[in-house]
Amino acid sequence: MSKPTPVHATMNQFEVRDNQILIGGKDLDTLCAMLDKSVFYAYDKNVVKAQIDLFHQAIPKHIKLHYAIKANPYPPLVNAMKDWVEGFDVASQKEMLLAVQSGMPVKDISFAGPSKQESEIKAAICAGVTLHVESELELSRAIEFGDELGILPIIAFRVNPAFELKASGMKMGGGPKQFGIDEERLMEILPVLDYEKIQFRGFHIYWGSQNLKQEAIMDAHNKTFALAQRLIDLTPTSVETVNIGGGFGIPYFAGETRLDLKPIGENLHTLLGQYPALANIEVIIELGRFLVAEAGIYASKITDKKVSRGHTYLMTNGGLHHHLSNSGNFGQVIRKNYPVAIGNKMNSEANKESVTAVGPLCTPLDTLADKMMLTDPQIGDWLVIFQSGAYGPTASPQDFLGHPHVVEIVL
Ligand SMILES: Cc1ncc(COP(=O)(O)O)c(C=O)c1O
Repeated sequence: MSKPTPVHATMNQFEVRDNQILIGGKDLDTLCAMLDKSVFYAYDKNVVKAQIDLFHQAIPKHIKLHYAIKANPYPPLVNAMKDWVEGFDVASQKEMLLAVQSGMPVKDISFAGPSKQESEIKAAICAGVTLHVESELELSRAIEFGDELGILPIIAFRVNPAFELKASGMKMGGGPKQFGIDEERLMEILPVLDYEKIQFRGFHIYWGSQNLKQEAIMDAHNKTFALAQRLIDLTPTSVETVNIGGGFGIPYFAGETRLDLKPIGENLHTLLGQYPALANIEVIIELGRFLVAEAGIYASKITDKKVSRGHTYLMTNGGLHHHLSNSGNFGQVIRKNYPVAIGNKMNSEANKESVTAVGPLCTPLDTLADKMMLTDPQIGDWLVIFQSGAYGPTASPQDFLGHPHVVEIVL
């Protein structure tokens, strides 16, 4: 088995010219002028495409790549990605409409989420996307609404597997969970279900997210294939698709290393050989942040600089209200710094200072960078937070304290 590539949390995915970071070939002053805003998210399509290429180089061609729109639903980005991935996973009616209007064929759009409202179930049936059903009542509602509408609902079961993702990362399967139907209960349902009332597609086995341990992901894949085979064996009709989850993480913090996709791909290749039932149907991996997180930055301006009892604070026009995940309040237990740099002093090591960068909110949680060594940070400079292409504006409390919302651009 090959060794993981030891690349640290990255700040080298963008071009730098004359000390300026370039996103899609444009420096921050130019983006600021284009947007008429001095705080923004900027995404580089080439970096997204490079991540997608990495996936395709390592993962067997048989396995399709779907993008989980929740990671970054900025419409121009989603529209661009439509031609680079083979499907979209959506988690709300709004995301569903975005996916449908992107031109992605509806057969390649799936709708998952633990508490779908009746209107969402009806909307999904009318749109013709695959409903990833997460409870027995949701299934009966889908059948009932399908009956009323005269449309067969397209159904896949979201399975709460009995196994748990090993190692770190966000676990979303195993034990009691709000997601999906427990595998043991599903095994009772499958043999007796009235398949005439639905268009049955298959299974969605999602076990977690943000995992950087290839061994843990391979272990989850081994268990997922075994579980899928058991479910297929119990299903008296044909199974068209199995979504084997996602979970590929990206390095956010110092000391974290990039996931090595090569052994994951080799293991999947072996599994497809071991389980012909899966080698002959559609198999999907669905990824969010792995595809987009490294392609985005959050840029704000340093607007004040002050010293409090010997410690230097940079005040900025950006903050937690735009970027909750960077503040450490979106899934982290202890806050760690994202990679941060002064975007107009990229190649310089001069006058490094230990500083804390904060936003305008009246809470100590509004910290963009805590005690970080930054190059000669001055009022008017650009503070750039890397790894910001996923779970940014739409995962942040933008109305908190009434400051302006943030703008986005993709190039
Ligand atoms: C069902 C499902 N799919 C995909 C994702 C995307 O996760 P990530 O962005 O870590 O790839 C999530 C995350 O919560 C999820 O719940």
